[in-house]
Amino acid sequence: MLRKLIAGNWKMNGLRHSLDEVSSLIQKVGKDPKADILICPPALLLMEMARQTKDSPIMVGGQDCHWRECGAHTGEISAQMLADAEASHVIVGHSERRADCGESSKIVKDKAEAALAAGLVPIICVGETLEQREAGEAASVVREQVEQSLPAHPKSEIIIAYEPVWAIGTGKVASAGDIAEIHALLREQVGAAIRLLYGGSVKPGNAAEILHLDNVDGALVGGASLRAEDFYGIIKNS
Ligand code: PGA
Repeated sequence: MLRKLIAGNWKMNGLRHSLDEVSSLIQKVGKDPKADILICPPALLLMEMARQTKDSPIMVGGQDCHWRECGAHTGEISAQMLADAEASHVIVGHSERRADCGESSKIVKDKAEAALAAGLVPIICVGETLEQREAGEAASVVREQVEQSLPAHPKSEIIIAYEPVWAIGTGKVASAGDIAEIHALLREQVGAAIRLLYGGSVKPGNAAEILHLDNVDGALVGGASLRAEDFYGIIKNS
C-alpha cells in the first residue's frame, strides 16, 4: 500500500498571520505523523512557510507553475522558482485554473513536465463537471483528461488528484461508491505506483470513510486545510 498524502490547497486565501495556523499544525502533528503532509499556500507565503516547516514533517508546494523555464511571461511563476523556494510539489490543472484560465490538458501536461524538470512532484488534477456526470460521461472525461494531461514517461514521481468539479467547495461529497469506481478505473489506467488523491469537500467528519477506500492514497483539501484544527482532523483520520 502506498503511504497516504494529505495535501492542503489554500487557494487565494491566507495572509502572513495565517502562518500561525502552520505553527499550530507543526505542534499537533509531531515528528512522526501517520501520513505525508503538504501545504500549498499562495506563492507569496511559500518561502516563509518553507522556513517555518524546515525541521518538521510538513512539506510545502506551489498551486500552479508556468510551462516554460523562464522568460517574458509577466506575472507568472516557474517551476524552478518554486523549487528554489524549497517547494517539493506543485498542483497543476486544478479545475479552477482549467475553468478560470482556460487551461487545456495539453497545457497541464506541459506544466507537469516543467515541474518534473525542476525536480518537483506534480499533482495533476482531473475531474468531471456536474453536467458531464449527469450525462453519464464521468469515467470517459476523467480517462481522457488523464491520457492528455500526464507526461508520457515520467522518470520520477507524479500524483493524480481526482476532484469532481461539482464537489469542490460546495459541501457536496461524491459518494463512496462514485469515488471507488473512478479510483478503480484510474488505478487500472495508470498502474500501482502512482498515488491517487481524492479532492472535493473533504472534512474531518468524512475523511476516514474516504481515505480508507481502495485505491485512495490521500486527499487534496481546500477549505478544511486553512485551519490547523480541521486539517489535523483529516490527517488523524488517514
Ligand atoms: P474543497 O477544495 O476541499 O474546498 O472542496 C478542494 C480542492 O479544490 O482541492
